[in-house]
Amino acid sequence: MRHQVVIIGGGPSGLLLALLLRRAGIDVVVVEQRTRDYVLARIRAGVLEQGLCDLLREAGVGKRLDTEGFVHEGTVIAAHGRKVHIDFKTLTGSTVTIYGQTEVTRDLYAELDRTEAPVFHEAEGVEIHGADGDAPYVTFTRNGQGYRIDCDYIAGCDGFHGVSRRTIPEDTRREYEHVYPFGWLGILSETKPLYHELVYAGSKRGFALCSMRNAHLSRHYLQVPLTDRPQDWSDEAFWDELRKRLPPEFADTLETGPSIEKSIAPLRSFISEPMSWGRLYLAGDAAHIVPPTGAKGLNLAASDVYYLSRALIARYAGDEGLLKTYSATALARVWKASRFSWSMTRMLHNFPDEGDFLDRMQEAEIDYLAGSKAAQTALAENYVGLPY
Ligand code: FAD
Ligand code: DHB
Repeated sequence: MRHQVVIIGGGPSGLLLALLLRRAGIDVVVVEQRTRDYVLARIRAGVLEQGLCDLLREAGVGKRLDTEGFVHEGTVIAAHGRKVHIDFKTLTGSTVTIYGQTEVTRDLYAELDRTEAPVFHEAEGVEIHGADGDAPYVTFTRNGQGYRIDCDYIAGCDGFHGVSRRTIPEDTRREYEHVYPFGWLGILSETKPLYHELVYAGSKRGFALCSMRNAHLSRHYLQVPLTDRPQDWSDEAFWDELRKRLPPEFADTLETGPSIEKSIAPLRSFISEPMSWGRLYLAGDAAHIVPPTGAKGLNLAASDVYYLSRALIARYAGDEGLLKTYSATALARVWKASRFSWSMTRMLHNFPDEGDFLDRMQEAEIDYLAGSKAAQTALAENYVGLPY
């Protein structure tokens, strides 16, 4: 079998890339190791930058986003007794949209079905061959049958644990990593959102975030030790702890109820350079991970896909220039978004081993943010997303 581009991974990066390339007449195939139901059940991000929304519209999947997504013009950052409203719209002219990653993925699959794009689910033992030469191919097995797909290019969109990054020889890539000494416990509940905007709260007891999916569905997070397991936290314990970490005027209005999902994610900053090797190009979590505090994971995947789709479309129109610079172009934005995610994480979490000095630094930072329009603008322009 032969296709022009093999996309490994059927998460948001792979699906969005597939649609954008197909719309330009490029013949793609998606190879995903899990079932579609498994991919759709993963509850992850919820904040979409304008750039990602525009790309989804360009890919033909903007309809539900535009009717069901919630445009947020600002957010609240509360810590050390201060509450700072960051007004994205006034400070930057831009906004973000609340629309869950599960819904994004659902819309992308529906459009791929409609266009009858080839997608192989439950592909086992996916391997990349010859990416450093002129005739790359991908092999895997599915339902006991072996497959080989020859292609011009391979897009590695298979997330942090995928096979693509590891195909690049170790002496050719360099990995930068920072692991944080805590995780995020997240719950989804059929309760009213705390406030009409997201509330990021830092406290001596640790970080908390009150987010939402719609007017009756809330997504809340608590910083927890890495040793905690979701089953250690009853719903009651979660709500009690969340109340203690919020400013009293918010805590008093928090609506509680049974959780319908509960999970813990560790926090990590990770960047692998370069993001290409021969005819293999990495995009999204396959190349980098950010801690979730700045809501950048999914949005960075989108900017990679933007650059890579433009580069491949230009290549099939006869110009290889953008493919040659893809890695450097994507990485420049990745490092800036990683810096922002790291600094938001530093500002709002409790670092158990760092003592009073960091505590006072965090206090000074919130104090500065509260009093400086320049600081608020810097935060806002990073949060709504740096330009592509
Ligand atoms: P993924 O979503 O990981 O998709 C990769 C796909 O590749 C998967 O479907 C996987 O099954 C498939 N795959 C893996 N290996 C192979 C293989 N060998 N062969 C074929 N297919 C393979 N971001 C935020 O902004 N906010 C959040 O709250 C947030 N929470 C998160 C919670 C968790 C637990 C995780 C893991 C991530 C979270 N993120 C969050 C990050 C965000 O979800 C990711 O940045 C985003 O999913 C990246 O999309 P992706 O398509 O690059 O990778
Ligand atoms: C959500 C997740 C984030 O990491 C974030 O910064 C904001 C919102 C969410 O899941 O809604």
